[in-house]
Amino acid sequence: PKEKGWASQYMYLYQQFWCFPPLVQATISFQKHFQAKHNDIVIASLPKSGTTWLKALAFATVKRHRFVPSSQNHPLLNSNSHTIVPFFEFNIYGGEDNVIPDLSTIPEPRIFGTHIPFPSLSHSIHNSNCKIIYICRNPFDAFISHWHFFKTILPSSLPTLTLEEAFEGYCEGIHPFGPFWSHILGYWNASKDKPSKVLFLKYEEIKANTNFELKRMAQFLGCPFTKEEESGGLVDSIIELCSFKKMKELEINKSGKIANLIENKHFFRKGETGDWVNYFSPSMIEKLSKVIEEKLGEFGLFF
Ligand code: A3P
Repeated sequence: PKEKGWASQYMYLYQQFWCFPPLVQATISFQKHFQAKHNDIVIASLPKSGTTWLKALAFATVKRHRFVPSSQNHPLLNSNSHTIVPFFEFNIYGGEDNVIPDLSTIPEPRIFGTHIPFPSLSHSIHNSNCKIIYICRNPFDAFISHWHFFKTILPSSLPTLTLEEAFEGYCEGIHPFGPFWSHILGYWNASKDKPSKVLFLKYEEIKANTNFELKRMAQFLGCPFTKEEESGGLVDSIIELCSFKKMKELEINKSGKIANLIENKHFFRKGETGDWVNYFSPSMIEKLSKVIEEKLGEFGLFF
């Protein structure tokens, strides 16, 4: 409906979350066909919450015995995180050919990414012992990051999205995979109900103490770092390999594309917390703070 603003003219509300038409088909295909294995790992997030970073950290950690993080041939030096850890809805089930991919030959543990909300994940993910790591970002920064990203990837056939229009939609929950509060709450509540299945991380906390959060993640995934690994600098080398500066400067992330569509460089903008202060007016701060307080406050989620 036009009166609901820019975004709702181009997106569908599917299973109570907003997404662009091709993603509805891909999500249905994923729900129908994906067979989880007990040792699969799913990296879940809202767009622009640090997914690229978490995918890299998880891959480097889980595969550290196969690929030494300090090696000059590490896959993360030659491929973008989203190529190494594909999204269910964009990459795996998002092809135009409607072919159901054979995922059985991917080396275990398999690591996948998704922006699909918790209740809409495939039954086999809910019913298997596979693990989910969710990365949540302060909605102020996530919104600004999203707005920048969106502007760059929108087809020129669509009208420009102003900051104000995007903001109105965001506060109403009309944005890809939104409402953001339902998305965050779905994974937050699951992490409280099933702490061995869902780990809830925050971008800001990983940024503030990467070492601690990385160790927490390794522990959760059942591959904690040994004392020798820690004292030998392995944790530090993973952090360095996945750092914003390092990843942004890689040739593959400067010039490559994901699935021949989105340029990798758009996944690396500032990589900071608090950039929102450069964009928000006092009334925007008041409005979004109110939405966050109303929707998330009672659940103990603060930013
Ligand atoms: P900014 O636009 O605020 O810079 P996603 O990966 O979910 O698409 O999120 C993208 C956001 O994460 C962008 O935020 C991007 O710069 C930031 N980012 C990407 N790689 C990062 C890294 N290695 N460390 C910290 N932030 C990173």
